[in-house]
Amino acid sequence: MMFAKVESQSNGIDLIKIDNEETKIVFTNYGARIVSWKYDDNNIVLGNVVEADEFYESNPYNFGATVGRYGGRIANATFELDSKKYELDANNGVHNIHGGPNGIDKRFFDYKIEEQVGQVKVIFTTTIQSADDHFPGDIDLEVIHTYNVDHKWTIEYKAKSTEKTLFNPMNHVYFNLNRDNNVIDNHSISSSKLDMYLLGEDNIVKSMEPLSLVNTFQEQNIQFKDIFDSEDAIVKEQMQRFGGIDHPFDIGGNEMTVENKHFILKVNTDMPNIVIYTFNDTTGWNSDFNIYKAHSGFTLETQCIPNDINLLGDQAPSILEANEPFYSKTSYKISEKQL
Ligand code: BGC
Repeated sequence: MMFAKVESQSNGIDLIKIDNEETKIVFTNYGARIVSWKYDDNNIVLGNVVEADEFYESNPYNFGATVGRYGGRIANATFELDSKKYELDANNGVHNIHGGPNGIDKRFFDYKIEEQVGQVKVIFTTTIQSADDHFPGDIDLEVIHTYNVDHKWTIEYKAKSTEKTLFNPMNHVYFNLNRDNNVIDNHSISSSKLDMYLLGEDNIVKSMEPLSLVNTFQEQNIQFKDIFDSEDAIVKEQMQRFGGIDHPFDIGGNEMTVENKHFILKVNTDMPNIVIYTFNDTTGWNSDFNIYKAHSGFTLETQCIPNDINLLGDQAPSILEANEPFYSKTSYKISEKQL
């Protein structure tokens, strides 16, 4: 039997705990986040295992958060839409990242819980005001987290903007499938295509011609370690420069798999790309909570290529027309390997 219970902490934080026998998942209203996901005793995601209510406010890595309205960097914190120039807040050097300093990862969402047959839904709602982040348009947003008996977590985004704008939401969960939570170098990724967009200055995509890792490695199933240690000149340069993967991928379809000896994680998405970030720099958080070393986890951020508006102009997939409904769906399913 699946059920949900709510625990209210201090500072307005609620933990919404869903129990599905061998797996348990926890969400919170602060940033419509996933807080933890456990398979028996194993933590599948990096998160706030001690459930401290001070954990997220100071965490600069967006653990488990709903990120928006725009995931990733917008170069020089500026873009043009219909010949009008917009200036955003720079919160990553001169760039805008993850929706800016007032991004939705740092706000309290309203929510309601629906317990249904074989699944629990948590429906989070908020409004992103243009005055909050300097993008055009106010957006009414619903982020729906559903957890079901098959140990599948689904995120749906429903939105509508009052003006033509950019909309590129994603979830910034970090996974680690190792039982001992050691670095994720031993995980492998697979998909029909693993085309990686190369980065230039300040981790920003420099060319819309991706590099096929399937061709480079002559394999469809590639270990993170082999990418980190690759002798291929292009891959090596990128890994040395960025300390690991922080790249958008074209996965050739809707589904991609990450696995280690014990678990298989399948991600399914209707978004055009997945940004994989292997937690390359963990030094920027001066806190007792910061127990992380580089490559302690990896993200699968299902979204449009960051900075698409400056790379593709009016062809950018993140453009959302005024009063047009936006809908997108991503799911992550965990299963244990039969040994
Ligand atoms: C970005 C990284 C950044 C991380 C934490 C990722 O989405 O690609 O460059 O360090 O988020 O904010």
